[in-house]
Amino acid sequence: MTDEVTVRRVGVNEAAGLVEQLADVLIDCVEGGASVSFMLPLPREKAVAFWRGVADGVSRGERVLIVAEDGEGQVVGTVQLVMKMPDNQPHRGDVAKMLVHRKARRRGIAQRLLAAIDDEARKEGKTVLVLDAVTGGDAERLYERAGWQRVGVIPKYALMPTGEFCSTTYFFKHL
Ligand SMILES: CC(C)(COP(=O)(O)OP(=O)(O)OC[C@H]1O[C@@H](n2cnc3c(N)ncnc32)[C@H](O)[C@@H]1OP(=O)(O)O)[C@@H](O)C(=O)NCCC(=O)NCCS
Repeated sequence: MTDEVTVRRVGVNEAAGLVEQLADVLIDCVEGGASVSFMLPLPREKAVAFWRGVADGVSRGERVLIVAEDGEGQVVGTVQLVMKMPDNQPHRGDVAKMLVHRKARRRGIAQRLLAAIDDEARKEGKTVLVLDAVTGGDAERLYERAGWQRVGVIPKYALMPTGEFCSTTYFFKHL
């Protein structure tokens, strides 16, 4: 990948055109051992179907999709803000599927994706953000650095892609 990375919000009608590239990033992360809803092996069609669903949500205004693209326009990272909430929580958003391709890690891309989420959430009138991350994983440090408050740990919340239980840590951030 080239050095220059751009972080931007994907347009409402544009997400469908990015599903293949987003699937590449998801598959790379799961193959790298990330617990992000999917088990190994992750067939490509399943990953693509997941992103098609996300693209539909973006087109309905239910999700904000952020991507990081390298200098050649290739998607190397992504994160989402889930906008659609119950009627009594219009001010809340959930942050989901923070993924950076292994080839692009440790260059501050996730930190930039999180900053973009904060900016877009503010624009959308969101003042409380929530997310969860595997306890003891790389992402926990990222969220703490970005000012997220740790709420607590739920043991055996999910499975790693190879089948072992993992705990999750819940975080929130007030904007
Ligand atoms: C967690 C994840 C998103 C982090 O992505 P990233 O782009 O590598 O994150 P950053 O570069 O912002 O920070 C990662 C580390 O690199 C360091 N770093 C940032 N910029 C750097 C630079 N220019 N040079 C050296 N190190 C740097 C950070 O300080 C951080 O250090 P740490 O590991 O000690 O905490 C990525 O590892 C990933 O996609 N994992 C798999 C999926 C996953 O678990 N997602 C989280 C779901 S909740």
